Amino acid sequence: MKDKRGITVTFGDCRDMHELPDNSIHLVVTSPPYFNAPFDYPDLFRTYDDFLDLITQVSKEVYRVVANGRIACFVTDDMLVRGEKYPVVADVTRLMQQAGFRYRDKIVWVKPKGYTRISRRSGVLLQHPYPMYFYPDNIQESILIFQKGRFDYNFQKKILIKKEESRIDVGQFNREEWNLSVWRITNVLPKPGRIEEGIAAFPDELPNRIIRLFSFQGETVLDPFVGSGTTLKVSNSLGRYSIGYEIDRELRPIILRKLQNGRGKSKRTGDIDIFERKDARNLRRFLKNRIKKQRTVTRMG
Ligand SMILES: C[S@@+](CC[C@H](N)C(=O)[O-])C[C@H]1O[C@@H](n2cnc3c(N)ncnc32)[C@H](O)[C@@H]1O
Repeated sequence: MKDKRGITVTFGDCRDMHELPDNSIHLVVTSPPYFNAPFDYPDLFRTYDDFLDLITQVSKEVYRVVANGRIACFVTDDMLVRGEKYPVVADVTRLMQQAGFRYRDKIVWVKPKGYTRISRRSGVLLQHPYPMYFYPDNIQESILIFQKGRFDYNFQKKILIKKEESRIDVGQFNREEWNLSVWRITNVLPKPGRIEEGIAAFPDELPNRIIRLFSFQGETVLDPFVGSGTTLKVSNSLGRYSIGYEIDRELRPIILRKLQNGRGKSKRTGDIDIFERKDARNLRRFLKNRIKKQRTVTRMG
């Protein structure tokens, strides 16, 4: 790995993050691809077992690179695919525990009522107002918080200045109800033309809270599933080093745009290091075509 500087992005499969030494990461904030989500990742995985295999391998690799006592946050949700609900939250929790992590907490991220992207399933009951026609509209995801062993609170005595610089604004903490196990945060709507279109990005506020709550200034934050680069952008703006892996090399211009926007008018790119490995793939166009095809079929059907 090169010198630790602003932001490093590697295009390649995060099942292998050999560039990162053991115990070198202070915090992981990520969201894995939503298992075959109809609007973002249709049929990306051949089977649910293939998806679980990805999570099994990534969780082992994440465990290896995270420093002792530190946190890995996975933002994810159970997924409804062709009428079948897949228990992603339970399975990710189990696999992270099997990799060695302690299951520390779960925050339920609630989105505003009017922001549902997925079709309004509750409409079925409006058409058939009888028992057995109930299908709720989903407006939540889970933020799963795992810890590698236990944090040594004596460590903070060695970093007194950084500790003060990383002080959490308790006024904001209370006012915005960060203290609760339910966070109400507006999600990113992937409107046509928006950078995050077709990526299932999370909003800046999500990594903003997690990074402030679980890392100190100057530390290193990892996102193994970069997507549009939200975690990298927010980490950087909060004075943390950030490292990301993304399998889809077609996201390069999107990530760069997002990171440059995060830096205001200066458009500096000097401290963004980008590497492309042989295992990077071209995914975006392929997925977009599938989504288009699927919409056509849905409309015709
Ligand atoms: C849900 S998105 C992440 C969105 C991100 N949190 C954001 O705010 O933009 C998941 C990303 O993981 C990428 N991905 C899927 N499999 C991967 C793998 N094996 N290694 C690295 N990235 C992968 C997908 O291409 C996608 O961009």
